Amino acid sequence: MNLNVVILAAGQGKRMHSNLPKVLHPIAGKALVRHVIDTARSLLPARLCLVYGHGGAAVRAALPDADLAWALQEPQLGTGHAVQQALPLLEGDGVTLVLYGDVPLTRPETLRRLLAAAKDGLAVLTVALEDPTGYGRIVRDGAGRVTRIVEQKDASDEEIKIREINTGIMAIPTRRLAGWLANLSNDNAQGEYYLTDVIAAAVAEGVPVNTAHPDGEWEVLGVNSKVQLAQLERILQGRIAGDLLEAGVRLADPARLDVRGELVCGRDVVIDVNCVFEGRVELADAVEIGPNCVLKNVRIGPGARIAAFSHLEEASVGPDCIVGPYARLRPGTELAAEVHIGNFVEVKNSKIAAQSKANHLAYVGDARVGERVNIGAGTITCNYDGANKHLTVIEDDAFIGSDTQLVAPVTVGRGATLGAGTTLTKDAPPDTLTVSRAKQISVSSWQRPVKTPKK
Ligand code: UD1
Ligand code: MG
Repeated sequence: MNLNVVILAAGQGKRMHSNLPKVLHPIAGKALVRHVIDTARSLLPARLCLVYGHGGAAVRAALPDADLAWALQEPQLGTGHAVQQALPLLEGDGVTLVLYGDVPLTRPETLRRLLAAAKDGLAVLTVALEDPTGYGRIVRDGAGRVTRIVEQKDASDEEIKIREINTGIMAIPTRRLAGWLANLSNDNAQGEYYLTDVIAAAVAEGVPVNTAHPDGEWEVLGVNSKVQLAQLERILQGRIAGDLLEAGVRLADPARLDVRGELVCGRDVVIDVNCVFEGRVELADAVEIGPNCVLKNVRIGPGARIAAFSHLEEASVGPDCIVGPYARLRPGTELAAEVHIGNFVEVKNSKIAAQSKANHLAYVGDARVGERVNIGAGTITCNYDGANKHLTVIEDDAFIGSDTQLVAPVTVGRGATLGAGTTLTKDAPPDTLTVSRAKQISVSSWQRPVKTPKK
């Protein structure tokens, strides 16, 4: 079947009170319309069209995808008018699926059901709501056949009571669409060209109108306000947490987890409360993430533990490492196996080989650190001279005394020891103690000052 998808995204979204076009607001770290696009793509459409208008330039810039066909709707005269703008982009003889750019959670399975229901005609995704206020109502005849959709503002007192509503999502035979849209009128309460009027047109021509239904109401919820945006965020996070639990991940509290991207977990992964995962994060088998950690685009090797309040970005952590509490791994950090990075240690663009340790209060930037190196408290790589960044090399088995400054570019040889407080400006030879420190003196004649008495 030739499938066209038309995503309506021209509306303004006044109630968002934002300069960002509504469909670009994110849930789970991804723009609303991107959720819809990803779902649409999974149906392998021949054409994927976006109808845009409000905030047009920003919407197009945010979606550089090569497979999107764009239809500008200006001005916005209603949902029927919106689909009409996409007509020249549609292909062939199959079905056109209409989705909304601000309804992000519809599952592909549900849409497949809708498409199956459109095999012999037109199909509408509908749902019965406890409170149908604001929605178009599905009007059926005595035999239960759909006869038309009536908008809330045009509905009679009897029709207002109907609880089955139009979700807005429909599958329409493409061949018929142009004719039906051409005949729409805007003679209604809102003065708009309603897409919903194609239902009555289909019925008049004897084209069957079928309905399909989502598994849950949440699948068809739209976003018109920040309140609804926050509600959908929680619904989606709840589903993500549920999937992780089903897959065997131990979550201390599924309600206190935020995944804004893709979180891939091995077996026996444990995640404590209030962690945020952004971009693509991979946690291998038996990884433990402590409370209040933020991980963005990172890979954590098997058996590694990330302790509380750690912040990791664009980093990779090897097997059985211990990171944190209060550690910061910045982009370009690569830790090999069994590395320990302790509290208030910042690592940037550095490779640290197996079994090395920086346990307290250090900055390691632009460094290559060998195996079994001990980096003492207060050690700092002075990697930046105000203009350029320079490399620090610390070879295997070196011992860096506390409060050392490594003024890059500089190399600490294999097995070297740096005395505490050293400011290293020249390379330190291997297997040797290097120390730069003012000689300690004791001044016996020194007198402590005393306070002058107040007059
Ligand atoms: C529409 C349906 C209503 C349904 C409801 C579900 C019509 C006439 N009514 O009503 O039956 O119950 O959705 O939420 O279709 N849009 C455009 N261009 C326009 C107008 C709208 O692109 O000119 C887009 C909007 O950005 C939005 C979608 O179409 O994504 C729906 O528009 P909206 O104004 O929310 O329609 P409703 O009046 O809520
Ligand atoms: Mg609406």
